[in-house]
Amino acid sequence: MIAARITLDKRGFRMSFQCSQWVDIHTHILPGLDDGPKTLEESANLAGYYRDLGVTHLIATPHYIPGTAWSASVPTILEKIAELQQYLQEREIYINISPGMEIAFHKRLPEQLEAKKVLPLGDSNHYLLEPSFTDATDALFPCLDTLLAQGHSIILAHPERIPALAKNIQSLVLLVGQGLKMQVNTGSLLGKFGPESQRVGRQFLDLDCVHYLASDAHGVHARRPPDRAEWAILETELGADVLERLCCINPARLLAR
Ligand SMILES: [Fe+2]
Repeated sequence: MIAARITLDKRGFRMSFQCSQWVDIHTHILPGLDDGPKTLEESANLAGYYRDLGVTHLIATPHYIPGTAWSASVPTILEKIAELQQYLQEREIYINISPGMEIAFHKRLPEQLEAKKVLPLGDSNHYLLEPSFTDATDALFPCLDTLLAQGHSIILAHPERIPALAKNIQSLVLLVGQGLKMQVNTGSLLGKFGPESQRVGRQFLDLDCVHYLASDAHGVHARRPPDRAEWAILETELGADVLERLCCINPARLLAR
């Protein structure tokens, strides 16, 4: 395994955490499927950006929103990954990419899970679920309750960015107690989605309700992964042990299942 070690001094911050598997479980790395990269070249630029940071493994999670253009099928996603991996190999950009989806919450989710029409993250049995940014939690919470009771493994994508969830933190804490996992965006903790997402993300961390940190990056310009200086800020504010647990240990365990 390649050891990822990053050290730098900038603005008084020093990032030094290291791990043999640095896994980003939420990335829009595949070309032409959603609002991520449009071309293989743009995807390769993003893959190279991750590789240069020391990230060793990506999970490709294109948006899956049924009834819209962003609803690539499982075979299409697997084909895109194979195509991108070949493209990266030819350019000597070495980084592992596993399949996944960022599944928008919708009414037919339970039956789609049962029919395996949606992809879990890598070889795990965990599904990355994106709550609605605009709806109330009336449909979401009972559905999560049922899915967890049925034994499904659900990771909630960036709950700190969802206004309705920020108003129902205690309900989320209860769901976490039932087995729900939560993934917070690094950009939220850095304040890139505004002060409220930053505050709520930190509150989830304080409540020990965060299982994964991920970039949710869409390219190397807008919605890019944190740069080294920003990782140094995250390390200073959260601690290297927290970053290691949320970016390396927990995601690596996910992939090992
Ligand atoms: Fe996303």
